Amino acid sequence: MLIDPRFSLLLQPQADARLEKAARIFLDHLRRRTGMLALDFAIAKIPVDGHTSLAIRSEAPSPPIQTLDEDESYSLTVQESGAELTAPSTLGAMRGLETFLQLVKTTAQGFGVPAVAIHDRPRFRWRGLMLDCSRHFFPLEVIKRNLDGMAALKLNVFHWHLSDNQGFRAESRRFPKLQEMGSDGLYYSQEEMREIVRYAYDRGIRVVPEFDMPGHSTAWFVGYPELASAPGPYAMERRFGVFDPTMDPTRESTYKFLDQFIGEMAKVFPDEFFHIGGDEVNGKQWDRNPKIQEFMHSHQFNGNRDLQAYFNERIEKLVSKRGKTMIGWDEILHSDLPKKIVIQSWSGQQSLADAVRQGYRGLLSHGYYLDLMSTAASHYAVDPLAEEGASLSSAEKEKVLGGEACMWAEYVSPENVDSRIWPRLAAIAERLWSPATAVDVDRMYARLESIGDQLDMYGLTHNTYYSEMLQHMAGSHDTSALRTLAEVVEPVKGYSRAALAQSEPTALMPLNRLVDVAQPESLTARHFAALVDELISGQLRPGVEPEIHRMLGEWRNNAPRLRPMAENSALLREVMPLAESLSALGAAGLEALDYMDRGEKPGEAWKAEQLAQVDQAASSKAQVLLMIASPVHKLIQATAGEKPTELVVPKVQP
Ligand code: ACM
Repeated sequence: MLIDPRFSLLLQPQADARLEKAARIFLDHLRRRTGMLALDFAIAKIPVDGHTSLAIRSEAPSPPIQTLDEDESYSLTVQESGAELTAPSTLGAMRGLETFLQLVKTTAQGFGVPAVAIHDRPRFRWRGLMLDCSRHFFPLEVIKRNLDGMAALKLNVFHWHLSDNQGFRAESRRFPKLQEMGSDGLYYSQEEMREIVRYAYDRGIRVVPEFDMPGHSTAWFVGYPELASAPGPYAMERRFGVFDPTMDPTRESTYKFLDQFIGEMAKVFPDEFFHIGGDEVNGKQWDRNPKIQEFMHSHQFNGNRDLQAYFNERIEKLVSKRGKTMIGWDEILHSDLPKKIVIQSWSGQQSLADAVRQGYRGLLSHGYYLDLMSTAASHYAVDPLAEEGASLSSAEKEKVLGGEACMWAEYVSPENVDSRIWPRLAAIAERLWSPATAVDVDRMYARLESIGDQLDMYGLTHNTYYSEMLQHMAGSHDTSALRTLAEVVEPVKGYSRAALAQSEPTALMPLNRLVDVAQPESLTARHFAALVDELISGQLRPGVEPEIHRMLGEWRNNAPRLRPMAENSALLREVMPLAESLSALGAAGLEALDYMDRGEKPGEAWKAEQLAQVDQAASSKAQVLLMIASPVHKLIQATAGEKPTELVVPKVQP
């Protein structure tokens, strides 16, 4: 069907307010998608002069607070004459509207949606994104546009990591020194947090707040040192890692404080779930405090794990008392805790399966850490019910609620955070929504690229941030040479950025270098590698070799273009060794092509020299990796009559 200016929506007369709101949001996106910005598409509750484009019917209204078990299924039928969307619930209808938007295509006749009949439902009930707003703070508009992106990909949980060593980001009226002394003034007011909760609800997303305790809690102690297990004073932590400051679980005053705090936050966040963190408690302050040691002895605790379990049991009661269900990271798992709590696993499927076998519900985050700069393909391959999860009984599998991507914010700012989340999050979203049998990686990348572009219309900046950051680096609006370099590099993987840094990274350092601009996954390099594989296979389509030639030539010629610019920019100077390596790779690749074209085999000396160049180019510089090193390596090997092999790509730690 065509989307023309007469496009109209028909809602049933009893449609609830949430569906009406969703319809208005949908039309807003449709206007942007089609550029028909001035059009006031109609929303009607009775058919308008017989012309309805999309009729929406939901069987049941939404509860005022979205629940874990709300039905998200829908059916969408599109024909030439119009479309129909039906769902058991308003939430399902909202998911169907997002599918309709995804289907809008530019056609020869104008904007259109193909004829389809879709019956769709999610595989998992919990499909989330965690955003760390402690290590770096993200203004409201950053969160809102990412909620829009999440809704587009049918994600349904925004897990808001609001406190950590580096900052306490939520306003407490009961304990105002939390944000006044623990945030540098960068925190969300209660009104702002409520605004995010409303915004998310309107897009079918639950908001689960996390206040990490008893560890990862230095920022609490700046204003309230009496909560800690050692005397202060404390300051906001600027470094990254695991630190000693930990709440004192032996003092009644700690629970009195937390009871009031949780009570206050329970009113701001209506969701059923309340996240208490619980990860990475190193126990050093406990070990050094004689009173805590005495307490442990008198309770016959067998180590710090038992003390943390005691703390968690106390906290669980405070959370339950407010009508909430406690969720925490793997480390809170302890047989003393009630079975209703939920375990979020950052350790892996084994840990998740252990929790589930003990009767707890759980969700997977291991394998979905966006900060590790892994490929979309590697995230796509991670399944909450694979590996150890595959051996669970079907009743146990029901307890695996789903998964959550994690955006830890050591190295992200409002400027580049979207590019670390998108488009890779779309691959994780698909893993959590679609059947486990959807595993074709090339087709996933095709969808990823197209959805990545569609997401621009939600105001996400994962495509647009690039130009601006390159301009800052170059100190010039002529960024084409720098772009050529930036598009074939990726940040180093896993946790190696800190290890490769010249000085210890902190939350205060500028995030304006090439490593901050470079996309986590270079699709240009991926495309080039595929072309080289095609060339080597000997079954190449017309145009492939000239394209390889063109790309290599552009790279070879790039360093001379950058050299004069680097004289005026310290940020550019840092990456010149990389630019020289890129030029060397381009030259080596072109020579290899020449040998191939002449049908001539190069000598051993040439081969050894080129492979040494490639090895040099493949090592990280300025904390980034040149991603075309491996395909150029293959070209040289193939030219020399060897079987091409992949260069070892740096391994990603968990
Ligand atoms: C975590 O990564 N410490 C949850």
